[in-house]
Amino acid sequence: MVPVMSLPLVDAGPIVGRAPGKIILFGEHAVVYGRPALAVPVTEVQATATVTPAPAGSGLVLWAADLGQEGRLRDAGPDQPLAKIARLALDWLGLADPDWRLAVRSSIPIAGGLGSGAAVSAAIVRALAGAAGRPAPPDIVSGLVYEVEKLHHGTPSGVDNTVIAYEQPVYFVRGRLPAPLAIGAPFTLAIADSGIPSPTRLAVGDVRRAWQAGPAPFEALFDAVARVVESARSAIVEGRPAQLGALMDANHRLLAEMGVSCPELDALVAAARAAGAAGAKLSGGGRGGNMIALVGAGTARQVAEALRRAGAARVIITSVGGRPSPTSALSGPQ
Ligand code: PMV
Repeated sequence: MVPVMSLPLVDAGPIVGRAPGKIILFGEHAVVYGRPALAVPVTEVQATATVTPAPAGSGLVLWAADLGQEGRLRDAGPDQPLAKIARLALDWLGLADPDWRLAVRSSIPIAGGLGSGAAVSAAIVRALAGAAGRPAPPDIVSGLVYEVEKLHHGTPSGVDNTVIAYEQPVYFVRGRLPAPLAIGAPFTLAIADSGIPSPTRLAVGDVRRAWQAGPAPFEALFDAVARVVESARSAIVEGRPAQLGALMDANHRLLAEMGVSCPELDALVAAARAAGAAGAKLSGGGRGGNMIALVGAGTARQVAEALRRAGAARVIITSVGGRPSPTSALSGPQ
């Protein structure tokens, strides 16, 4: 164990770890069954974790600022997500229970398909690693966050922790090294929150039960999703984003057939299309949470307004590939 007294934190002042949100462009649910998915970071929302010194003997104190909850790590149960990721990170760092206060904040809506749980976990790993003077590389962040994703998701594919830890667009297949997704030409998305919290594990569990009851139709749906994902990957890499609209529509239909859409998401998708979006789909676990729509410079504002009128709790406009991503640590085939 590293002696806590010698850690660089005390001189360095507050150490902040950050992580963006994420959105799945194509392939959710089918990705749990080995098919590919495409996902991108969303930097308009983020989680932060800040480490400052705490009184001697207190051990790690966790302060969930948004919830107004504070507690000592040593008193937290094994399945408490913030405590679990803090313990995993401290183990990786070889630290027992340092006298630090860890304040966690997030602007990412909870249970909305924007990866809030994974982002909070990644920010905590980065903050603790920064405080210990040993920055955590993306593969380590991703692996530790995955362990906590199991609490949120049951059987996570690993796509959330991957895109959030690497902070880059990814082409993801479960069990394989993530591949970076090169953006041939930037494109713009409207991300609308249905305002319905939807824990991913429920939708994932329902799909699993339906697949177990009748695997053949679900395997066919997953294969159809995989074809959409491969077409979308080519369109993105080769700079033909206009083709993504029809592919989003196709992916949404397949997700609806899997039973993970809901009337509110269908209404947002229809409203976006009626207002000029080139295509739209639910994103993430479904049954609530977020949807995305492909918009252009001329349609972004009117689509955002139509989404709000159709009941969206919040709309984010984000550019994919419009500016360099903060890190570029991924490597692998394109
Ligand atoms: O609801 P989200 O955005 O956390 O994404 C879940 C994505 C699923 O494919 C439904 C599940 C998974 O583990 O990949």
